[in-house]
Amino acid sequence: MYRTHTCGELRLADMAKAVTLAGWVQTIRKFGAITFVDLRDRYGITQLLFGEELTRQLDEQPLGREFVIQVTGKVNERSNKNPNLATGDVEIIVSDFSILNRSAVPPFTIQDDTDGGDDLRMKYRFLDLRRNAVKKNLELRYAVNRAARNYLHQQGFMDIETPFLIKSTPEGARDFVVPSRMNPGQFYALPQSPQTFKQLLMVSGYDRYYQIVKCFRDEDLRADRQPEFTQIDCEMAFVEQEDILEMFEGMIKSIFKEVKGIDYQEKLERMTWEDAMWTYGNDKPDIRFGMQLCNLKFPAHSFRTRKSISDLITGAGFQVFDGAETVIAISVPGGSEYSRKQTDEITEWVKRPQIGMKGMVYIKCNTDGSFKSSVDKFYPEERLKAIAAAAGAKPGDLVLILAGAEERTRKASSELRLEMATRLGLRKEDEFKLLWVIDFPLFEYAEDENRWVARHHPFTSPKPSDIETMISNDPEIKDAAKYLEHPYAQIKANAYDMVMNGNEIGGGSIRIHQRELQEKMFAALGMDAEEQQHKFGFLLGAFEYGAPPHGGIAYGFDRLCAILGGSEVIRDFIAFPKNNSGRDVMLDAPSSIDEKQLVELQIKLNLNK
Ligand code: AMO
Repeated sequence: MYRTHTCGELRLADMAKAVTLAGWVQTIRKFGAITFVDLRDRYGITQLLFGEELTRQLDEQPLGREFVIQVTGKVNERSNKNPNLATGDVEIIVSDFSILNRSAVPPFTIQDDTDGGDDLRMKYRFLDLRRNAVKKNLELRYAVNRAARNYLHQQGFMDIETPFLIKSTPEGARDFVVPSRMNPGQFYALPQSPQTFKQLLMVSGYDRYYQIVKCFRDEDLRADRQPEFTQIDCEMAFVEQEDILEMFEGMIKSIFKEVKGIDYQEKLERMTWEDAMWTYGNDKPDIRFGMQLCNLKFPAHSFRTRKSISDLITGAGFQVFDGAETVIAISVPGGSEYSRKQTDEITEWVKRPQIGMKGMVYIKCNTDGSFKSSVDKFYPEERLKAIAAAAGAKPGDLVLILAGAEERTRKASSELRLEMATRLGLRKEDEFKLLWVIDFPLFEYAEDENRWVARHHPFTSPKPSDIETMISNDPEIKDAAKYLEHPYAQIKANAYDMVMNGNEIGGGSIRIHQRELQEKMFAALGMDAEEQQHKFGFLLGAFEYGAPPHGGIAYGFDRLCAILGGSEVIRDFIAFPKNNSGRDVMLDAPSSIDEKQLVELQIKLNLNK
């Protein structure tokens, strides 16, 4: 038997017990004739005391960091207890030890505040995984996995695996492809999600399906994206949007309870996509704090359906506002205290290429009721007061105003809102705010191809009231500049996203389940009958054999775990992640393959060197 206990287990109640432990050497501290060793395993750290004789043995047979050892000894009460350690009241007086395996000197220290940089830790990920911080993340991941499974099992969902070697599934990214040796010149695609399979399972009658499953997308990577990531993928038959929102609100609350001990009682707010864009500037609003956008001026199209209050700002001779397509204000609580240097710094921030604004206007709402602005010479105090009031500013606040082209300004305002909230400490990692964003547009305009693309995916159904618009109108966009006036731009989808702390953690839709409507959808996306048959003949065919009404959702499991763990970097919550260039630096993958393999696959490389 290698061990009687783990390194995280022993307490004062175990006093004088004879025990055997095994683990990794964390630290070695020699004090004159005796030696203390901290022994670590997955469960914790236990202090070992090597007496004089064993210390002499250690001189001949030295231990090193990360050696794997086994020790036998007696549990003893420590004289200097360590309250930071669960086992901190005890130590083991070692009577016997053996080295099970040696270790080379690790390339970085394996402790919470390690000296290892990102690249080094990724290369030696198996060592990084020994660190507490990473282990905690994986434990949390497992807890979320268990909580989701428990909930879904209780609700009658069945876990059904679906294949990885498939045909392209359109989720908007590029496919990873796998050549087929047995079918030369032909390729499988790895699933971007099990979307079509889960729909087929509904046709087969498995009316509550789930899977915690790998998805593969060849897209540009960011902190919240990996080329292979995991979804909690779910589908239900005989449901409407309301049923799905209820069911998955239940799941997320159950996860909060089991994993975080949080009783998330509030019903999740539901915000239309239009409202989200209007008041937060993006479709995944962080509602942990207010600072909503005040639209002073905007062009009257698409989701901007409410009246602007542009009279407040135009006609004063200030060309920046007069000539701008959009003017948006944000009120920063307590910001009137900011110095000139600070407001200049924020102006520089919005001028960074990533944000892309030409400048920023501010109005300080002083606590004495006076107003001071960077555009004083255009606006008398009364007018500044009215603008500040429209932006919801109180005495002591600072109103920041951006003006410019619609999309860029809205995006920049959204970024500025988040940045100011971060600076004010309003985005707390341990506070969680969830909401549903609903009523997305069904289509998005792809400028480069002058055609419609599905905003969610092509299997998402339009709102029943919009089906007629879809059927009776020609999808062709005759005038690209006026695409927003095309009836298709107004069609709303039966789609929903779950958003947590400004991150899209899940998304889904009620699907199309009739062949005709699905064909119409494909056609709207520019697919002719032949292409439809080639790509999705199996699904269209299945819809002819009694497809029930159905819908579903998929959660980004890695993202969900990261946010619950107080981070937005999903890599830290994946045991073996890829780096930002999509490489596994530990395996050194991707890599070239043998000439023999290429010959077998009948593939000739044509690299531009
Ligand atoms: P969607 O494409 O919105 O929907 O994906 C669902 C959720 O998966 C997460 N996600 C990612 N996480 C990490 N890395 C990525 N590259 C990545 N891409 C997406 C997001 C997202 O909300 N089949 C549909 C679901 C459905 O309609 O039921 C789908 O895949 O958190």
